Amino acid sequence: MARRNKIALIGAGNIGGELAALAARRELGDVVLFDIPEKVGVAQGKALDLEQNNAVLGADASITGSSNWDDIAGADVVIITAGVPRKPGMSRDDLLSINLKIIRGVGENLKSKCPNAFVIVVSNPLDVMVYELQRVTGFPGTKVVGMAGVLDSARFQLFLAREAGVSVKDVRAMVLGGHGDTMVPVISYCTINGIPVTQLITPEKLAAIVDRTRGGGGEIVKLMGTSAYYAPASSAITMAESYLKDQKRLVPAAAHLNGEYGYKDLYIGVPVVIGAGGVEKILTITLTADEKAMLEKSAAAVRELIDASKKL
Ligand SMILES: NC(=O)c1ccc[n+]([C@@H]2O[C@H](COP(=O)([O-])OP(=O)(O)OC[C@H]3O[C@@H](n4cnc5c(N)ncnc54)[C@H](O)[C@@H]3O)[C@@H](O)[C@H]2O)c1
Repeated sequence: MARRNKIALIGAGNIGGELAALAARRELGDVVLFDIPEKVGVAQGKALDLEQNNAVLGADASITGSSNWDDIAGADVVIITAGVPRKPGMSRDDLLSINLKIIRGVGENLKSKCPNAFVIVVSNPLDVMVYELQRVTGFPGTKVVGMAGVLDSARFQLFLAREAGVSVKDVRAMVLGGHGDTMVPVISYCTINGIPVTQLITPEKLAAIVDRTRGGGGEIVKLMGTSAYYAPASSAITMAESYLKDQKRLVPAAAHLNGEYGYKDLYIGVPVVIGAGGVEKILTITLTADEKAMLEKSAAAVRELIDASKKL
């Protein structure tokens, strides 16, 4: 008889709670909502509320809150949101020293408790956090991935759809590179139901949309004093579901590069295929000279932050 999947959510804050709600609603598996001992009541309270929500919706999934690492043992999927989010005026990089310590501690525990899990890192600064998690655990690069590209691309797609006056369902667009101000919205692969976006939106409007996409997270932080959580949670669940159901979705995600795009020993957002094997493929696509230059700048910014993290 098939057993249910086990999904461990490390961090029971804003994104963690929404992740639990989505995983339960879609019956992806049983959920353990993990947080530090000081926050275990929050984790347990959210878990209970969500189990009661399941009773209303008629969804079968157990959700428990815990601060005991033993409770996440054997998880099939781990999604990490542990750490602090941005406050207005902060960049993602400002979170480095606090969140680095947290991710290292999480990594040590994952190593012994769930060595076979597919791990999705969400905590910021994203590319450095996912790099560090893979380094600390020593898990294969195919099993440790960072979520940013799905979210940044969704923001890009929304702004393009609004400008073109079409459904967001018909817009295909990817954002590659690091999850920061240097991210690379890739215009050359951006289409509206197959029509190159450059035929429907003027260069000036496109440039403004690229800028808004790059600042998309900051725009929300400024409005509500903390970072976004609905779209980040949906984005991470998209990746988890592709792994659990072997959907082989092609999505942009921070992947462990080993020579692809000319980079080694680096995590950065590139198009990948996620299936039962984890990151089953990294796709190397042709970029325009401008896009290549932007990716180079973005990779250099991530590399700089990784070097800084090595001194902490
Ligand atoms: N990758 C992305 O695209 C993206 C998007 C939005 C936010 N984020 C990042 O995700 C992270 C979480 O955001 P949030 O809004 O959920 O924050 P939040 O403050 O609501 O939740 C974070 C939770 O982590 C917990 N935590 C701290 N240390 C822990 C540890 N050692 N073990 C387990 N849990 C621990 C905190 O107690 C808190 O409950 C932030 O770093 C934020 O910047 C990333």
